[in-house]
Amino acid sequence: MYNGASHDNEIDLDKIEIAAEPPIEEPARQYHFMARCQEWVRAFEQKKGRRPTACTQTFGCQMNAHDSEKLAGILRSAGFGEAGEEAADFLLFNTCTVRENANQRLYGRLGQAGARKKKDPERMIAVCGCMMQEAEEVAKIKASYPFVDLVFGTHNIYRLAELLYQCLNSRRMVVEVWEDTDQVVEDLPSERKYPFKSGVNIMFGCNNFCSYCIVPYVRGRERSRDPEEIIREIQGLVADGVVEVMLLGQNVNSYGKTLAHPISFAQLLEQVEKIPGLERIRFMTSHPKDLSDELIHVMARSKKICPHLHLPLQSGSSKVLERMNRRYTKERYLELAFKIKEAIPQISLTTDIIVGFPGETEEDFLETIDVIEQVGFDSAFTFIYSKRTGTPAASMEDQVPPDVVKDRFDRLLKVVQASGSKNSGRQLGQTEKVLVEEINDHDPTLMTGRLSNNTIVHFPGDPSLIGKIVHVHLDAFKGFYYMGSLM
Ligand code: 5AD
Ligand code: SF4
Repeated sequence: MYNGASHDNEIDLDKIEIAAEPPIEEPARQYHFMARCQEWVRAFEQKKGRRPTACTQTFGCQMNAHDSEKLAGILRSAGFGEAGEEAADFLLFNTCTVRENANQRLYGRLGQAGARKKKDPERMIAVCGCMMQEAEEVAKIKASYPFVDLVFGTHNIYRLAELLYQCLNSRRMVVEVWEDTDQVVEDLPSERKYPFKSGVNIMFGCNNFCSYCIVPYVRGRERSRDPEEIIREIQGLVADGVVEVMLLGQNVNSYGKTLAHPISFAQLLEQVEKIPGLERIRFMTSHPKDLSDELIHVMARSKKICPHLHLPLQSGSSKVLERMNRRYTKERYLELAFKIKEAIPQISLTTDIIVGFPGETEEDFLETIDVIEQVGFDSAFTFIYSKRTGTPAASMEDQVPPDVVKDRFDRLLKVVQASGSKNSGRQLGQTEKVLVEEINDHDPTLMTGRLSNNTIVHFPGDPSLIGKIVHVHLDAFKGFYYMGSLM
C-alpha cells in the first residue's frame, strides 16, 4: 500500500527532469533523487527480468517504527518492491541504542546479512538510526563490517533517496551522519503498516538529559512541528482511512514551547480532536515533570483522547530520581498519579522502570516497589540499567553488581505482573468499544483489537471487521488481556 504523507503535495515523479541539476530545496530535491533511482530500477529490471526488492528492519521504539514507515515509503517511491530480510536486494537496518543489548542484536543480524552478501555480492546493506549517531559504532562498522554499503543517522533519514542514489553509483561505503539539525522536512512519502492507524511525529529530539539516557545525544535538540502541518497530515491520513493516531515525541508535554507562536500540547490535542472522522487519539511519551493540569482537564473532557497515559517512573526513590536528573520526587509522582486517577477514573496508567541504576540500594528499590503498589499500573516495561558511554551515569561510582540487579529485576517483575493482573482486569463483564486490528496470531477464528485504554481483547469474528470500531463484551480476563464476544 502506498500512502503519501500528504495527498495535496504528492509529486508526479514522471514529470521530473532527471538530467537537470537537483533542486536545492526540500522535499523537491528528494523527489528528484527518487526519480533518478527509478531509472536505475528500470535498468535492473531489464537486466534481471524482475524488480529489485527492499526490506526495512526496525529495532527500538515507536518513533523508530514510524521512521521506518517513512524509509519504506521512500524505497517504494524509488521503485523497489518488497521482500523479507533474507531475500531483499536492499536491506536496511534502522537501529536503536537505548540499551546495550539492542546494539548486540544489530551486529548479529548484520553478520548474517554479510554472509548472504558474500554469496550474492550485488546485494546492498544499509544501517541507519540511533546507533549510527555514535562515532564508535560507525568506526566499528567501517573496520569490521566493510561490506556495508550505506550508513546514515537519525537526522539524515529524509535524505534516503539521495543517499541511495549515491550508493548505487559508488563502490565505496557511503556515510552521512549529521550531529544535529533544526530542519523538519514535510511531505515525503510514507508506507503505513496499518491502513487504519498511524503514528504522527509532533516533535523530534529531547532536551531533558536524564543522566542514564543516550537519546538526547542521538536524536538531537528538541524541535516541534508546526500545528498546521500536524493537522494537515492527520486530515490527509483520515481521508485515507485512518481512525486512530498516535502523536509521537520523546516528551510530548513540552510540545510547542520553541515554536514561533508557542502553543501547549493540550491546545494541540484540542485542535486534533476537532478533525472530523478521527476516532481515537493516543500519544507518547509523557514526562511527569511537565504534565500539566490543563492536559488532565482536556483528557478528562475529551471523547477522542484515549484514557491511557504512559508515565515513565524510572525509580520510586527520590534520591535515585535526583541522580537520574528526572526533576521530580517520589511524592510528586504519587501526587500526580492520584490527581490523574481522580480526574479520569477510567485511566490506564503504564510506566517504565529501570533497576540497578548506579548507587541504587535495597531501600531505594523497595521505594520503587512501594510506588508500583500505590499507583496500581496496568502494565510496566522493566529494564536493567545499561551503561551508555557518554552519558553522566556511565561515569558514576557504585555501579550495582549484576547478581544484585538480577535478583531485584526478578522481584520487580513479580510485583509488576501482580499489579497488572489486579488493575487491568477492571472492565471484566462490561461491553466496550474495540478497534479491531488483526487476525489473532495463534487462532485464525479470533480477531485481536484494543480497548481505548490500550488493553488487548481477542474475540471470535471475521477479517472484514479489521479497522472498524465494534462493541465487545469482555467475558474473561487472562492476566493482561481479555477474551470477549462481539455484541
Ligand atoms: N538503561 C536501561 N534502561 C534505559 N532506558 C533508557 N535508557 C536506559 C538505560 N541506559 C529505558 C527508560 C526509558 C525507556 C524507553 O528505556 O525506562 O523510559
Ligand atoms: Fe527510540 Fe531511543 Fe532507541 Fe532511538 S535510542 S530507537 S529514540 S528508544
